[in-house]
Amino acid sequence: MTVVRKKLIAGNWKMNLTPSEAAALIDATLPLISEASCGVAMCVPAVDLPAAHDRLRGSRVTLGAQNIHWADKGAYTGELSAAMVQSVGAACVIIGHSERRQYFAETDAAVGMKTRAALAAGLLPIVCVGELKEERLSGQTSEVVTRQTLAALDGLTPDQVSSLVIAYEPVWAIGTGLVASDEQANETIGVIRGVVRNKFPTAADSVRILYGGSMNAQNAPGLLAQPEIDGGLIGGASLKPADFAAIVNAASQPLAAGS
Ligand code: PGA
Repeated sequence: MTVVRKKLIAGNWKMNLTPSEAAALIDATLPLISEASCGVAMCVPAVDLPAAHDRLRGSRVTLGAQNIHWADKGAYTGELSAAMVQSVGAACVIIGHSERRQYFAETDAAVGMKTRAALAAGLLPIVCVGELKEERLSGQTSEVVTRQTLAALDGLTPDQVSSLVIAYEPVWAIGTGLVASDEQANETIGVIRGVVRNKFPTAADSVRILYGGSMNAQNAPGLLAQPEIDGGLIGGASLKPADFAAIVNAASQPLAAGS
């Protein structure tokens, strides 16, 4: 049986834009994606959430944060809880982005705790996994994404897993202009789905697994045509209305008959 998963294109603005700049980007982008039939999310800096929430009202775009702490509250200077980002409009959150793993020492265990905290609060987690360049070159890609995926799935129920979004982002492709080939991305996402299937057989066909890493208007159609790839997590191109819209519109194309 062919399972049709609705594609999702999520923008990751990273540490860019003040609230007024955020509002301007949304105003420029929304008219270009008004016909989109795929899911669309914008994951914005926490300080931009209220302005973005205001601007996205009435649109079908899901607003997201880029990180949360795993605790409900407490002595964690500088951190934000799931309930806090939710209170200013976030409905989803990126968890375990490689930049957080790399620059803020976020571990697999922390990613698991944050994933559970997001789900418990009713936020949709977009959990990132992906190998470093050295790991790909030394043939460890499957091992790395398997370890990271299992840590993210730890302690979840099958229902929680079916609603999850995972983003496969090879670290060597993020912000570098190097993009995984359609086949590389499809193959590794297949490995990730296999890991999910092994642990949660009933959830594996529902979980959406995105590709991220230098996805742009030119390479998106090829990547999005791959059977395992359920959308994209878009960094640089999400800050350019026409480029982001081209990716969203590529993800909104109906599947070819028989696929
Ligand atoms: P990029 O970033 O599209 O700029 O490579 C993707 C990401 O980090 O999510």
